[in-house]
Amino acid sequence: MRFIMRACPMEDSPMNQHELNNARPYFRELEAKEREACVNAIPKVRLAEKHMRNCELLLNRAKLLAKLPRWAITAELGVDHAAFSEEILRVAQPQTLHLIDLWNTDRYHDGLFEGTKAKFASAISAGQVRIHRQNSIQAAADFHDDYFDWIYVDTDHSYETTARELRSYAAKVKQDGIIAGHDYTMGNWVSSYRYGVIEALHEFCVEENWEFVYLTMDPFESQSFAIRRIL
Ligand SMILES: C[S@@+](CC[C@H](N)C(=O)[O-])C[C@H]1O[C@@H](n2cnc3c(N)ncnc32)[C@H](O)[C@@H]1O
Repeated sequence: MRFIMRACPMEDSPMNQHELNNARPYFRELEAKEREACVNAIPKVRLAEKHMRNCELLLNRAKLLAKLPRWAITAELGVDHAAFSEEILRVAQPQTLHLIDLWNTDRYHDGLFEGTKAKFASAISAGQVRIHRQNSIQAAADFHDDYFDWIYVDTDHSYETTARELRSYAAKVKQDGIIAGHDYTMGNWVSSYRYGVIEALHEFCVEENWEFVYLTMDPFESQSFAIRRIL
C-alpha cells in the first residue's frame, strides 16, 4: 500500500502555480483519506499485561543480537546486501544461518544475491550459511517443526506478509525459541509506506499466546523486537 505524492493531478493539462496552490488542500485531503483507509484496514488488537511483563528494553539491535542464543540454528528473512547477516555471523556465531530472500526487485536485485554468495563463500562451503532464494512464506515449508532456535524477520514489513510469516514460522521455532525482527514502527516517513509489523505482532501474540522479550530503542533506525511463547 504505497502513497504517491502528487504535485499535479493531470500531466496532460499542467496547472499554473495559482491553480496548483488552490488544488493542494484538495489533494492533501484526498491523500489523508487514502491513508486513513489504509490504516483502518489493518486489524488492531490490544496486548494484555501478560504479553509485556517480561519485556526488556535494549538500546539498539546490536544489543539484541548479543542477547540471542549463540551457536544456534537461525534464519534471517530478508537479507538485502547481508550487512546484518555478517553481524549475525560475527556476534551470534550460529551453527547454521539460513539466509532467505527473493532479491527480485530493482532495489533488491540479483547483484545483491551474487554479492551475498561471494561474501559468505567459505561459510557456505562449510555448511554454516545456506542461501534460499525464495519467498519467505514458501521457504518455511522447507524446515521441519521445532527446527530454529531463533529467526530474524525483516522482509517487506506489511501487515499481510508479517502476519503470514509469524504464522508460517511459529511451528518451525523450538518451544523456547524466539522470533525476532526489524521495523517495530508505524512506517517509513520518507517513502510514505505504512508498515503493519506492530499490528501483526500484537495480533499474533494475543491469538497464539506469545510475549515480548525484547524491544529496542534504536535512535537512527527502526526498532527491533523479539517474542517467544508463553509457556
Ligand atoms: C529491508 S531489506 C533487509 C535488510 C536486512 N535484514 C538488514 O538488516 O540489513 C528487505 C529484504 O527483504 C526481501 N524481501 C521482501 N519481501 C520478501 C519476501 N516475501 N520473501 C523473501 N524476501 C523478501 C527484499 O528482497 C530485501 O532484500
